Amino acid sequence: MSFNRIAIYGHRGWVGSPVLHALVAAGAPIKVLHRAGSDISSLPKGVTTAEVDLDDAQTLVPALQDIDIVLSFAARDVVPKQHSFIKAIPSTNVKLFVPSDLGFRVDKQGLSVPVNKAKQDVEEAAKAAGIPTSVVLVGAFTESALAFPILGIDVSGNRIIATGDSANQQLTFCTRNYVAAAYASIFAKTAPSQLQGRAIGLSEFKATGDEIAAVLREKHGAEPQKFVHSLEKVDSEIEQCVKNGTPTALSWYCRKAWGTGDLVKGLGKDIWEVEGYQKATLRGLLLEGKLESYKEIPPQIKQLFDAAFH
Ligand SMILES: NC(=O)c1ccc[n+]([C@@H]2O[C@H](COP(=O)([O-])OP(=O)(O)OC[C@H]3O[C@@H](n4cnc5c(N)ncnc54)[C@H](OP(=O)(O)O)[C@@H]3O)[C@@H](O)[C@H]2O)c1
Repeated sequence: MSFNRIAIYGHRGWVGSPVLHALVAAGAPIKVLHRAGSDISSLPKGVTTAEVDLDDAQTLVPALQDIDIVLSFAARDVVPKQHSFIKAIPSTNVKLFVPSDLGFRVDKQGLSVPVNKAKQDVEEAAKAAGIPTSVVLVGAFTESALAFPILGIDVSGNRIIATGDSANQQLTFCTRNYVAAAYASIFAKTAPSQLQGRAIGLSEFKATGDEIAAVLREKHGAEPQKFVHSLEKVDSEIEQCVKNGTPTALSWYCRKAWGTGDLVKGLGKDIWEVEGYQKATLRGLLLEGKLESYKEIPPQIKQLFDAAFH
């Protein structure tokens, strides 16, 4: 099996950066597409580059001439700019477009959250343009969900929010390293024709709210402080956040989807397993210090997450 020629947008990003290194380690030929001024000084050996401007689709056409697969890790606010790929790809020989997603399939309420809607719009526009497309769905990243109380799990403060039935419902987690290994295992060599049209789910491990609370208890030697949020309360919080443009709308929605079981269902049935990978465990991350840090979050956003514990 030969390698796919892969273009990556978002090489310095929190997700894109480890994926780039995993694909290079797997041996795939990589071209980094970067915006003007983006640092390309420390790319792994052999990686080629092309400067592009997501506001100008014409800059993408020459950059994509010798590419089989485009992997985009555009930041949340940049998701709509990916429509430029959709304009450019028909003038190239690209065989698969994988837009920035890394979330889970959401319902109508989930689509009221702007970033979810923007991701769906990109995927649908790509399909409507006849571009072979697939997405990778992740659920929760351990680094964001366990290092910050985004999902109502406050590891250092020994607190947990039960939303709806989240005490008994599973939450599905991936470490960033697992996601990187999965991208390499999926995209380095698989024929693009076998990947198109798929929503590929990744799940490194799952845990219910009660299982997470038990590990917190073991970690702190004390019962975690528990808060209970009804689904009605969360519905009203989501509605208010969407109306006011508050950035925690996604976090409330994810907690609800956990509490109804929709988050696990939203990964779909096409789950990709990374052969030979030693998966992380909740106990390993929380009790053996294996949890890695997340990117810096502004203090005012941290305060919003904190305010949910009541
Ligand atoms: N499920 C989860 O828990 C979870 C958690 C985190 C992320 N995600 C998803 O993963 C995807 C990637 O997120 P991320 O956190 O890795 O993103 P990120 O680190 O914030 O940024 C990724 C890339 O976006 C580019 N970018 C930033 N602003 C730009 C602009 N104005 N114009 C053009 N390019 C710009 C950056 O390019 P430069 O290198 O030039 O700066 C960067 O490399 C998103 O879809 C996000 O929603 C999911």
